[in-house]
Amino acid sequence: MRLATIGFGNVGRALAILLAQKADELKSRYQLTFSWTGALTRTAGGWVAPQGITALEFASEGWPAGAAPRQSWPIRGHAAEFITACPADVLLELTTLDPVAGQPAIDHIRAALWAGRHVVTCNKGPIAYAYHQLQALAAEKGLALRFESTVIDGTPIFNMVESSLPATKISGFRGLLNSTSNYVLDLMSAGETLEVALEAARRIGVAEADTGSDLEGWDAAVKATILANVLMGATLRPADVERLGLGAEAMRREMNRLRRGRTLKQVVECIADAGSVRAWVRLEALRAEDVLAHLSGTQSALTLRTDTMGDLTIIPGAGGPEQTAFGIVADLVSIAQKLDQVH
Ligand SMILES: NC(=O)c1ccc[n+]([C@@H]2O[C@H](COP(=O)([O-])OP(=O)(O)OC[C@H]3O[C@@H](n4cnc5c(N)ncnc54)[C@H](OP(=O)(O)O)[C@@H]3O)[C@@H](O)[C@H]2O)c1
Repeated sequence: MRLATIGFGNVGRALAILLAQKADELKSRYQLTFSWTGALTRTAGGWVAPQGITALEFASEGWPAGAAPRQSWPIRGHAAEFITACPADVLLELTTLDPVAGQPAIDHIRAALWAGRHVVTCNKGPIAYAYHQLQALAAEKGLALRFESTVIDGTPIFNMVESSLPATKISGFRGLLNSTSNYVLDLMSAGETLEVALEAARRIGVAEADTGSDLEGWDAAVKATILANVLMGATLRPADVERLGLGAEAMRREMNRLRRGRTLKQVVECIADAGSVRAWVRLEALRAEDVLAHLSGTQSALTLRTDTMGDLTIIPGAGGPEQTAFGIVADLVSIAQKLDQVH
């Protein structure tokens, strides 16, 4: 399977390493070998290697900090030119999130599908803003669009629903989807100020320099949009997700009035009701019997409300670029298995 990537940062590097580490296992269990035929980033430009370089070669070349791999030629110019010039089976869209419109990643994915490439992305923007359009284009072209790592790193959600919950109706979900907010609330409940807790979140690498999107619920709203649209057939936009009583001031106030035995968390919830889907993010003072009250630190969780298995809760371990890369590998294996069934 020939891979080309737009964006090669933390996740791209973790993916190159993981594919190199798992090369033997992927080959023996799935008869699957990978080569990289090109990569493009915003500032480093890009390269195309028509013959492909192995995962091990790519992982050890050090690009984009070092030189582009040998056997490749440099490419300048736009993503669309790169996508058509680069011979690949799958385009990986691993660029930075644009939380306002999902661009230019939507254009990258559209161009890849028009050029006949399957697409795997971990970028929330295009799936939150254009899932239905992109999925329709992929279906029309007979191509795959997969995005396991857009919600809770590489935790199996979409792949699990697709492969292990046949004929199941999902009528809602509830969970902790923003690590920064819940990590900060955790430290505040242990007596830290919000400022100190935020600084600690930055130190361990979960919080961005600008934490507004986390504390004010935008990050959770984007993820709720993806879950509602993909799993429940909704047509929400992130702005449709209600963000109720959030932000730094509300966190301080709610923490001060928290009753004994309760735990304060930023909770996302979604329900399908009388043909419409409603989703919201808010601070909740959880009782001890609530499964979400027992999560701590940066832990995320998601409960799916299903008509076959009742409430199904997924609580992953720690998340980060390595788990995000794993979700991409799961998507790639799934594409390869579907191609095998077709041939
Ligand atoms: N890190 C995680 O654990 C994690 C978890 C889940 C989802 N994600 C999502 O995965 C994506 C990648 O995350 P990351 O941590 O790898 O980010 P990162 O380290 O900031 O890397 C982003 C990469 O995208 C490139 N890029 C940005 N805009 C571009 C454009 N218009 N054209 C071409 N290249 C462009 C950057 O190039 P330059 O460096 O040259 O600017 C860089 O190579 C993001 O959407 C993120 O939200 C990340």
